[in-house]
Amino acid sequence: MAIHQPIDGRCAPALFALRRARFFEALGSAAAVIPAAPLAVHHADCEWPFRQNSDFWYLTGFDEPDAVALFLPHRPEGERFVLFVQPREASAEVWQGFRWGTEGAVAHFGADLAHPIHELAERLGDYLKGAEGIAFRVGKHPRVEPLVIAAWAAQLDRAPRNGHAALGLVAPDPLLHAMRLRKTPEELERLREAARISAEAHELARQVARPGLSERQVQAVIEQHFLEQGARGPAYGSIVAGGDNACVLHYTANNAVLQEGDLLLIDAGCSLADYYNGDITRTFPVAGRFSGEQRALYALVLAAQEAAVASVKPGFTAEGVHETALRVLVEGLVQLGLLVGEVDGLLEQGAYRHLYMHRTGHWLGLDVHDVGAYRLGEHHVELESGMVLTVEPGLYVSDRLPVPPGQPAIDNRWKGIGIRIEDDVAVHERGHEVLTAAALKSVAAMER
Ligand code: GLY
Ligand code: MN
Ligand code: MN
Repeated sequence: MAIHQPIDGRCAPALFALRRARFFEALGSAAAVIPAAPLAVHHADCEWPFRQNSDFWYLTGFDEPDAVALFLPHRPEGERFVLFVQPREASAEVWQGFRWGTEGAVAHFGADLAHPIHELAERLGDYLKGAEGIAFRVGKHPRVEPLVIAAWAAQLDRAPRNGHAALGLVAPDPLLHAMRLRKTPEELERLREAARISAEAHELARQVARPGLSERQVQAVIEQHFLEQGARGPAYGSIVAGGDNACVLHYTANNAVLQEGDLLLIDAGCSLADYYNGDITRTFPVAGRFSGEQRALYALVLAAQEAAVASVKPGFTAEGVHETALRVLVEGLVQLGLLVGEVDGLLEQGAYRHLYMHRTGHWLGLDVHDVGAYRLGEHHVELESGMVLTVEPGLYVSDRLPVPPGQPAIDNRWKGIGIRIEDDVAVHERGHEVLTAAALKSVAAMER
């Protein structure tokens, strides 16, 4: 009988080994405890489809819940990468599916040693003995945290007699997230694939959208494409927002009927089998023609987005990309009469925030809002080749936020227009690559 085993995470085991080697280097003589994600309850006794913790995935490629990875630089060769995993168990596998078990963890995932997860409490103290420090992220892993604290406390209790305990509990985040922020060529290839599928879905959505269809029917077209292409599904709750719904930044109800005369804002991207994500927003007229006001605001957001994308290059900063978009937006809003005053003053006062209330982008990778610092103290992190960020300015005209003192009341003809344009952009040696360029965005392409 053929045994149908999952393929996710078995690709390129050498890649995960390389990451672990770099993580060990960064750790120095501290041990690290990196937990997997648990299953999350959807309701009653039903669970959400499993989603691995990205730090754990990055270092192991192991796609099961209730596992813990130990990195033990103080141990002898052959005992440094230890996985605790759910053991093979026929009755559990009949209900929940295949598990690699401890043997699979060693044979296929490069673990030096593997144990059943229920032995973690009893073994953790011994494994951590002799480490100079313990890298563990407090506040995120409620089931593992008490075990780590107990193991460290026991070391501290014994220290007066044996003279040794880890000096401190440190966060692994700065080390690990600095690694994850800089993508390798293999990771860029996966992000290109996520971008390809996501861009195709946006092109399909624009072809089918028409007045009378519900937002959810358009969502179905997008997510069907993700699944057909072998992605796990949407990377985040797809936003399919007709008309004024687009002014709700995290609108995911997707249950309204598309109206003639409205714009449709779609913010959707897929998550691949190995968790790399796309994140694209496009906005277009439901019935194929912009109104004058819609066209003016669309052209303005597009100009801001293109200027911001053009600014992406090594040595610049995410803050600079935001400021680039913001200046174009505010200049245009003054020209359209939606803001009054001198541009520098408006920027300084934040007098545009009732129309543009979010940042212009974020890092993108295994998490949609990916890890990595944007600033270190007062210093904005400079863009480097291998970093990937979204560029996503928008304008949202509604009554939800008050018009700031001194700014004009908004004429009704502008209201209910919400526009965002979002691309995924990789920083390259000599500039950048727009990973999502296959999703069209020119004014002409948005009309039919
Ligand atoms: N879809 C979430 C974002 O654009 O950041
Ligand atoms: Mn988005
Ligand atoms: Mn985004």
